[in-house]
Formats: sequence, structure tokens, C-alpha cells
Amino acid sequence: MEKEQLSYEEAIRRASDAIQRFPLIDVHGVPLMSTIAENWKSVSEFCPDPSDLLISTYPKAGTTWTQEIVDLLLHNGDAEVCKRAPTAVRIPFLEICSPPPIPSGLDLLEQMKPPRVIKTHLPIQLVPKGFWENKCKVIYMARNAKDNLVSYFHFDRMNLTQPEPGPWDGYIHKFMQGRLGWGSWYDHVKGYWKERKERNILYILYEDMKENPFREIKRIMHYLDLSVSEDVIKRIVQLASFQVMKDNPMANYSNIPKPVFDQSISAFMRKGEVGDWVNHFTSAQSQMFDEDYANQMKDVDIPFRFSI
Ligand code: A3P
Repeated sequence: MEKEQLSYEEAIRRASDAIQRFPLIDVHGVPLMSTIAENWKSVSEFCPDPSDLLISTYPKAGTTWTQEIVDLLLHNGDAEVCKRAPTAVRIPFLEICSPPPIPSGLDLLEQMKPPRVIKTHLPIQLVPKGFWENKCKVIYMARNAKDNLVSYFHFDRMNLTQPEPGPWDGYIHKFMQGRLGWGSWYDHVKGYWKERKERNILYILYEDMKENPFREIKRIMHYLDLSVSEDVIKRIVQLASFQVMKDNPMANYSNIPKPVFDQSISAFMRKGEVGDWVNHFTSAQSQMFDEDYANQMKDVDIPFRFSI
């Protein structure tokens, strides 16, 4: 029998009953959603084409923003082409695996011809080795720990497939101990940082992108060996701005129904700011976090900024 072709939205609607806050299961010491852990063999064996591009981030570091910028760069700033499908369909999420009939990242990738752009949140040691063997380009975006934490907290409230975040104070400790999906933020940002030269990874910072998107988009353009006019880059700055993406149904995840992303709890495109952490941390929490941060980050000098 021929497989019924469902739209992504319809597939999610049909799977709604099977949606739950999936527990985390350790994969090589990294907690991942159980649906990913159960499918781990297929994920780890995925072999990209050398022309494929990987966008990697710790969750909530600005993945969707980077995806939009890259798609716009690859299509010379053509806004209409970049509205051909929602972000998750244009740029599949490698390891994501949900109840059928929702297509997994691997299902979507199988239907696409290289060169593909692929999203992952995997820490560097779990990225399928084919990406390194085939010398694929990799763009890594990182965001300062406190804003990243705040964003993840609100995301875990509204993403009903992620474990309950619990109260804010406890969440800070979970973050510091790496007990969240995709593990430790500290190990994640450090892992890619230490390997960036050896493996030709373009390492970009959310705060730099926010401060000067024109400059950072140009860096991405050069890395991708593209030649896009300055006018087009200016247009991309505008099209990938927070407000334009918030209003763009192909970039704001409004296609994901409420049983998965309940945006009445917190919007996916929530604030998009640097320094929102000051509205969440008490001064005692901030001090405790900073002391632990200094210790966990003492072996690297990544130029994160907590305000701009
Ligand atoms: P906030 O929760 O702080 O608002 P990801 O795409 O990795 O899930 O990250 C989501 C975070 O990036 C959210 O942060 C979201 O608002 C922010 N974001 C998305 N698009 C953005 C843009 N164009 N400019 C600035 N921030 C953006």
C-alpha cells in the first residue's frame, strides 16, 4: 500500500495523543529525550554528503535565527522562497524523533537531495562522525549562559515534549549540573570552541549577531563562500530581525499545534534580547551562578557578554 502523504502539521495533529513530556535518557553520558535515545543508532549512523551544512547550537542559543539567516543567504535574500515551508521542514533537525506519523529529522533528510542544511543540538562528541570525515561545514552559535538558561526555562514551560522545568530556582541548578535535554551548556560551548580551528567550525555569538547583524551575516557569507551584495545583506538583516521573524508563520513555529508547543504559555519568539536574565536572577542567584561559572569555564576564554 502506498504511504499516505501527510503535511507536517497534519502529522503532528494525528500524533497529538502520543505526545507527552518525554523523559531524558543518557546517551554516552548526555541526557537526551527518550525518543532520540531510542533511535540513537540510526542518528549516529547518519552519513551526510560533503556538501551538507550543519548548524549546531545548545538549545535556545539562537538556532532558528541562524537557520533563517543561512536560508536567506543561500537564496540571495529571497523572502518568498524562504517562506516555502516552516523552518523545521526547510532545515531538518537531525536527531529529533517524535511519535509517528510525525516525520523524524532523518525521514525529512532522506527526502531531500544534498546540499542540505541540517540542524542539530548534539554536543560535538555525539555529532555523527560522517560530518567530520566528509569535512562538512559547521556553523556553531553560542549564547551567554544566563540568557540561554532563561530562554530554555520558558521553552521547557511551553514545549510539552520536554521534561517539566519545575520552579525557577531549581531550574538554575539543573542547568549548572547539565541535567537538561542535550546536557551541559558548559561542555557544549567548550567542546565546539576547542575544536573550532582543527575542524573549520564557524563559531558565532548571539550577542555579536544582536549587536551587529550586518557584520556577522557577512562572516557567515564568507564562510559559505557566497557572494551576496551589501544591499541584499541589509535586506537579510531586516528579514531576520526579531520582529519580522516573530510575524513570519514560516519562522515562528506557529505551525506546531498546542499539544506540542503551547505558545499561550510562552511564545517561541519570546523576547530575543541580550540581558533579559536580569529580570529573572536574584542577586544571590546571580552571585552563586557566577562563582560556579568561573569554575566551570576556567579552561577556556570564550568572549561571552552578558550585556551589550
Ligand atoms: P528568547 O527566549 O530569549 O526570546 P532557538 O531558536 O535556539 O530555540 O532560540 C530561541 C531564542 O532565540 C529565543 O530567545 C528567541 O526569541 C530568540 N530568537 C529567535 N529569532 C531571533 C531573532 N531574529 N533575533 C533575536 N533573537 C531571536
